[in-house]
Amino acid sequence: MKPLVIINFKAYVEAQGAIELALKCEEVDSNAEIIVAPAISDLSLVRTAVHIPVFSQHVDDVEAGAYTGHVTVSSIQAHGAVGTLINHSERPVSLEHIRNAVKLCKEKKLISVVCAPSPDAIRTVLGACAPDFIAYEPPELIGGNVSVTSAKTEIIRKAVDIVKERSKLLCGAGIKTGKDVRMALKLGCAGVLVASGVVKAEDPKKALTDLVKAL
Ligand code: G3P
Repeated sequence: MKPLVIINFKAYVEAQGAIELALKCEEVDSNAEIIVAPAISDLSLVRTAVHIPVFSQHVDDVEAGAYTGHVTVSSIQAHGAVGTLINHSERPVSLEHIRNAVKLCKEKKLISVVCAPSPDAIRTVLGACAPDFIAYEPPELIGGNVSVTSAKTEIIRKAVDIVKERSKLLCGAGIKTGKDVRMALKLGCAGVLVASGVVKAEDPKKALTDLVKAL
């Protein structure tokens, strides 16, 4: 399986031109599976513009019904998402929400990526469900310049061990260089999540190229 590199556009002002940003990500040639996660309101637009996989940044744990303001699995799928983040630390949800959302994703064949801030949280998630991927992201490193791969090396090793056989581990937070990505893979991760390192870069295409060129 190719390593996953998920570019989370968040709600950054730089991602307001979501199509342009997604096209730049698509232009990058690499051995990685580059995935873009634009704002939910941009899913359709981005999906129509690119051929690389598109993920949602969030999904709710309900399907059709009287749920005002909810984002259902069917709706993100209808708008082109093939996967979704769940429980990002900037969009946390309850354990029950995680369990239900992962179940709905499995039913609809949508790839689930559940974010977790610590090994304990990973264990808790795995006690409730088996998402396709668990993304270890320590909140204090998100958006900064210290990579999770250098600050939390041992924790990543431990997390790979916790996750094995039930799911696959991704990591994210502060990833800015190709070396960080290679380190994540070397530690046993199936891929990484990156936001500011690409979205806020002066030249996002070059930044992403640098991240994945040596894979
Ligand atoms: O979902 C990925 C994100 O939280 C990591 O953000 O800016 O540290 O790459 P960043």
